[in-house]
Amino acid sequence: MSAKMKVLVTGGCGYIGSHTLVDLIDNGYEVVSADNLSNGTEAALDGVEKVTGVRVQNYKVDLTDLTATKSIFKDHPDIQGIIHFAAFKSVGDSVFNPIGYFDNNLNSLLNVLRCAEEFDAPYFIFSSSCSVYGNTKALPVVESTPFEEAESPYARTKQMGEQIIRDFAKKEGNVNSVLLRYFNPAGAHESAELGEAPGTLANNLVPVITETAIGKRKSMTVFGDDYDTRDGSCVRDYIHVMDLANAHVKSLEYLAESRNETKADIFNLGIGEGVTVLEAINAFEKVTKQKLNYTLGDRRGGDVVSIYADPNNSMRALHWKPTRSIEEIMLTAWNWEKARTKPSEIIA
Ligand code: WQD
Repeated sequence: MSAKMKVLVTGGCGYIGSHTLVDLIDNGYEVVSADNLSNGTEAALDGVEKVTGVRVQNYKVDLTDLTATKSIFKDHPDIQGIIHFAAFKSVGDSVFNPIGYFDNNLNSLLNVLRCAEEFDAPYFIFSSSCSVYGNTKALPVVESTPFEEAESPYARTKQMGEQIIRDFAKKEGNVNSVLLRYFNPAGAHESAELGEAPGTLANNLVPVITETAIGKRKSMTVFGDDYDTRDGSCVRDYIHVMDLANAHVKSLEYLAESRNETKADIFNLGIGEGVTVLEAINAFEKVTKQKLNYTLGDRRGGDVVSIYADPNNSMRALHWKPTRSIEEIMLTAWNWEKARTKPSEIIA
């Protein structure tokens, strides 16, 4: 089968990027990765190769360096699609390093957009985040829900990134963009050959749960059980990473078939269900039959009380449907944790 088109995946060695490479290859796309390995290793491409049989070429390039970024497109003038994942993404770190976050996340975006225009890559997909909504009370959020104040510099870079692309779209040109607002990505590929691989111990809930269950941590803390929610813990919209990956493939088709309504269409990628922290823990214990060692602790600064999506626009326009539940998230995350953990890492 001839490849559909060549797609550059920036951040291809990261969590969502590597899973998206798998879905792109499974759907007949030719792929190239650009990743400076600041938050991942090429081991992710080993997993992609085990699952697909394809060894993806990675350019270890700092995308804030325009000359280096252009070199990728000079090697691959037939790149038509760009999926731009590469960015710093730690909410907590961004508070202590705002300049580093603005420099990296915005200058890499500007350079990739420059190349999309100069090398005539007409389809551009931007990795945005539900954090652009801030602490909104308008739930479930739809794409037209106004932004509240960004809770972190990380969230601000996503708000500003979206504005940059929308202004870029207003000028005449061949580049058409889709902005995808991820809710809470979690889980792992069913093969347990790839998954979320934080360099150090994780910050996000699902990998913290699996690290605790396997014994990399003695216990974990539920950050707050006194919120105004059904059980007092925060509510999030957890979406399986493979469902999220498939939304990127569907977005490429959406652009390639000229179904886009504007040159910068926006979509929420959640499943439309809010799950509390305690419900997520219960789901883990149910599917894995593992008792989790956790304590109820203080709230975490910067946490939004509750956020979940209305995904209907995405499902209708992208012909996309998330199919995996919180239980599937927990099972695949647990299988991945068991596959990747070395005995020397167990402390409890
Ligand atoms: C989820 C819930 C915590 C750890 C962030 C970014 C978002 C996206 C995903 C990039 C919260 C609670 C967590 C723990 C806990 N990142 N929790 N104990 O903060 O919703 O979203 O990561 O795109 O943009 O904002 O994700 O998994 O850190 O937290 O109780 O040890 O789990 O308080 O309520 P978050 P999270």
